[in-house]
Parts: sequence; structure tokens; C-alpha cells
Amino acid sequence: MSESERSPLNVVVGVTGGIAAYKAVAVIRALVLEGHDVHVVATESALRFVGLPTLEAISRNPVSHELFEGVAQVRHVAIGQSADVIVLAPATANTIARLAAGFADDLLGTTILASTAPLVIAPAMHTEMWQNAATVHNIATLRDRGVIIVGPASGQLTGTDSGPGRMAEPDDIVDAVLAAVGPKDLAGTRILVTAGGTREPIDPVRFIGNRSSGKQGVAIAAAAAARGASVTLIGANLDVPVPPAVTLVAVSSAEELAEATLGASSSADVVIMAAAVADYRPDAVAASKLKKDTQGDELTLRLVKTQDILASLAESKPADQVLIGFAAETENDDPALLELGREKIARKGCDLLVVNRVGWTTGFGTDDNSVVVLDRAGDIVMEASGTKPSVAGRILDLLNRTRHDTST
Ligand code: CTP
Repeated sequence: MSESERSPLNVVVGVTGGIAAYKAVAVIRALVLEGHDVHVVATESALRFVGLPTLEAISRNPVSHELFEGVAQVRHVAIGQSADVIVLAPATANTIARLAAGFADDLLGTTILASTAPLVIAPAMHTEMWQNAATVHNIATLRDRGVIIVGPASGQLTGTDSGPGRMAEPDDIVDAVLAAVGPKDLAGTRILVTAGGTREPIDPVRFIGNRSSGKQGVAIAAAAAARGASVTLIGANLDVPVPPAVTLVAVSSAEELAEATLGASSSADVVIMAAAVADYRPDAVAASKLKKDTQGDELTLRLVKTQDILASLAESKPADQVLIGFAAETENDDPALLELGREKIARKGCDLLVVNRVGWTTGFGTDDNSVVVLDRAGDIVMEASGTKPSVAGRILDLLNRTRHDTST
């Protein structure tokens, strides 16, 4: 569904008291420009960071901030009851703790408790606060309740420090808000996604691995679930949390990933192989830790090839299943990168291949991605760059078009 076909939503934007409150203005503006009716509920401390007139002018509606205003209209519950979706941007550590505990001693608290609408929160705080056990626990509680958490991103914070805790970009927050309320254009579709990087054991404490964090694959799984798909994620050593709407099967080695994926693939309408799978594994795993004393100055490991899961999936693929592979390449030259992609899709036999450049500082583990998607003929069918959630959305749009084209 294009944005213009979407009917206007009643969006409640909760703004809480953090420096990132100034970026809430961009979130509100984007929602208003897309035609939605935006009602801002600001906490008192939010109004110390961004002024009421700004929020009212940008949202084009009065801003609510006091529990005891409009009591005759029972405003403390009315705002929440009429919301199609609520988004908190920024959500401070304090607000997250209050949400987890169900506090209702201010207008934002009552609004949220009185609502059954999807709730999206964009945490913003210093890294230490984000990583504090109390916040980690509160976020897990909210996630279990179905709250959609966007970000935080990693980057420059308010002071000179940087790290995870920076509020997600306004565009990503808006994408998450709109995804939370539809379109459910993948409803009824069973999608199997693999993500993360496999680890091939050498002995009980060591492995050969790769630097994939699983961010892109998890973003695809999360976005597909938000769009109504039934999603199973085979996750290898993921560095990122998985939303509860996604069924996670945790694996570690290429062999485990192969077994889980090949076992689940026949009942999937779509298989997306985003995992970085080891091509080789040690041919024998030592039963106990290898010791320097017994190994001497040199240690030789004999590696044997692993199964090519994507190629195996392609061989046994049901006719109407869409199979999407990824290609991680370090080639710097664009035409040569595409040539590698063309050669890879021909070799693997999948329907679409998402080619992305990886390197010491690109691709693996980063928040952003830049991809080119090839079809079986080797033609470019889509190019996307941006945050991994936004790239995930574009890949799913392409998937929908592909499924639509092949079924008509
Ligand atoms: N893949 C797989 N099984 C493997 C290796 C890779 O299923 N043993 C899948 C990956 O999940 C990805 C695609 O194949 O979807 C391409 O992976 P990539 O690492 O880019 O390519 P390789 O198969 O390793 O080929 P090359 O060594 O030529 O890069």
C-alpha cells in the first residue's frame, strides 16, 4: 500500500524529557506531512527541552501535558482510547522504568495505560544508562508485552562520548510507527529467515567465526512480522534482540544452521538466507582445550567444506517458494562487485540475491547498509541504502512485488 492510500491515523506522540526531544519535532512533522492527525502528550520535563508553541505549531493540535486539564472530558483516558498508535520519542530511562512498572501519575502514564493501540518507543539515553541492568530488565519486560522498541542507534551522544543510546533517526521511528499499524501486506505468508554468523568449534572454548551481528536479518524478520507474516528466524550467535512476534530457533554452527533451515524450509513460502555461514569447519573438534605444551610452536588445523545451504535449498525448492540469498563481498569496484553477484546467483540458483559490500568497517555489525538486488537474469531489480530496518522494508516491498508478479 502506498502512503497516499493509507487512511489518516490518530497518532499520539509522547515526548519525554531528554535532549533528543528536539528530534521529536522531526517525527511529529513527518507524521503530519503524511496526513496523520498527531496529538502530542508532553511530560513537564520534556517542555524544558522543547517549547509548547513549537510542538503545537508542528503538530497543528493543542499539546496536552497536565493530568488535571479537561477533567470533564475525562482526557486522562480519552487520548489513549482514541489513539490508533502511540509513540514515545524520546523514551528516557526514567520513562521506560515507569512504563515497565505501569505508573499512571501523569498524563502520559494514564494515556498509555488506557490504550490498547500498538506502542512504539524510541529509547534515548547515555550508554551506561542503556546498559544498566535495570534498563535492560525494563526493556525486556516491555518487549515481552509487545512494545515495539526502535533503536537506540550507536553514535555521538550529547557530550563528547559516543556509543549505543542515541535516539533512532526520525525516519526510522516513523517507519516503525506506520509498520505497527499496517499494512499487513504479508499476512498469511510463512517466512523463514536466517541471520547471524556461524561459529565452527575447534575445541570446547574456541571457534572460527565471522563478524556478522545478525542486525540485517533480524531487521528483516522483525519487519516481516510487523507486516503480518508468520516468521521463523534461525539465528546464529545473534548480537541483537529478537521481537517476541518472531519465532527464534537459536543455532551456532553451520551444521546446526543447515539442519534447522533445511528442516523448516519446505513449509515456508519465502526463505531469506541472510546468515553469514562458514564455508569451512575444522574436520575434527578436540574433546578438551588444545594446550600449547602439546601443540608446540605451530598449530595446523585441517578444514573441510561445509554444506552450501542456499544451493541445497535451491535444488529442493517448491515451485512457488521465493528463495533470497545474500552475497557478502569485499570487492571495492562497483562493476566487479556486480559481476561477482551475477556469478553467485547463477551458481547458487536462488530467485533474488542481495549483494552487499562488507569490510573492516562496512556491512557486518554496522547500523547502516547499502545493497543491490539482482534477479536470476543478473539484472538489478532494486537498490537501497540507509539503516538496516529501512533496507529490510525495501527488501520486503520487492518480495511482495516478486510474489505478486509470479502469481499473476
Ligand atoms: N551460504 C550458505 N551456505 C554456506 C555458505 C553460504 O547457505 N555454506 C549462503 C549465505 O547465507 C548467503 C549466500 O550463501 O545467502 C552467499 O554467501 P557468501 O558468503 O556471500 O558466499 P559463499 O557461498 O561463501 O561464496 P564465496 O566463497 O564465493 O564468496
